[in-house]
Amino acid sequence: MPADIQEVLFTQEEMAHRIMALARSIVRDYAGKDVVVVGVLKGAFIFMSDLTRAIAEEGMPSVQIDFVRAASYGAASVSSGNVSVDMCGEPEGRWAGRHVLLVEDIIDSGNTLKRLVGAVEACGAESVRVVAMLDKKGRRQVNFEADYVGFEIPDQFIVGMGLDFNETYRCLPYVAALKPEAYGGKH
Ligand code: IMP
Ligand code: MG
Repeated sequence: MPADIQEVLFTQEEMAHRIMALARSIVRDYAGKDVVVVGVLKGAFIFMSDLTRAIAEEGMPSVQIDFVRAASYGAASVSSGNVSVDMCGEPEGRWAGRHVLLVEDIIDSGNTLKRLVGAVEACGAESVRVVAMLDKKGRRQVNFEADYVGFEIPDQFIVGMGLDFNETYRCLPYVAALKPEAYGGKH
C-alpha cells in the first residue's frame, strides 16, 4: 500500500459486490428503456467500467456510453463551486428524448452534479438520474441527492477506484482514505 494511505475503506471485493447490487437495481428500474450512461471524467472511469459491465451481465447489454467533463478541482483539493461542463464532443441533441444515467465517482458539496443534471435536462433528456460510487453527505453545500449510491462515507479525502489526489492513485483497485498530512488536512 502507498505510504500516503491511511486505511482501506472498501476492498476490491466489497466494491465488486456493491457494484453488482447497484447494477441489479438499475436494470430493474430501467427495464425496456433506451438508456445512455454518461460518465463524468476523469474520476468515474473505473466505476463506470465496472458498473456498465455489471449492467450488461444483469441483462441490459444495449446501454450506450458517453462522457462529460466537469472540472471543479484544480491542483489543490478544494471545490471552487464554479463547475464547467464539457460534452466531450457529443452533438448538442445527443441526449434529447433519452433516459440519461449520470455516473459520478463521489458527491461532496453537490455543486458538480447539481450543475450537470441541470445541463443534461436542458438538452431535452426524457429523464436524468444519478448513480454515485461514494457520497460524503455531511459536506453538502447545495441540496442534492443521487438516485443510487454505492457507499456513504464520512468526511475524509478519498483516493482509488478513479479518485485522485493531484492526479495520482486513481488506479488503486480499492477505495482508501489519504493521510491528512498528505493533503495538508484541508479539503
Ligand atoms: P462536488 O462538486 O463538491 O460535489 O465535488 C465532486 C467532485 O470533487 C468529484 O467528482 C471529485 O472529482 C472531487 N472530489 C470530492 N471529494 C473527493 C475526494 O475525497 N477525493 C478525490 N476527489 C474528490
Ligand atoms: Mg469528479
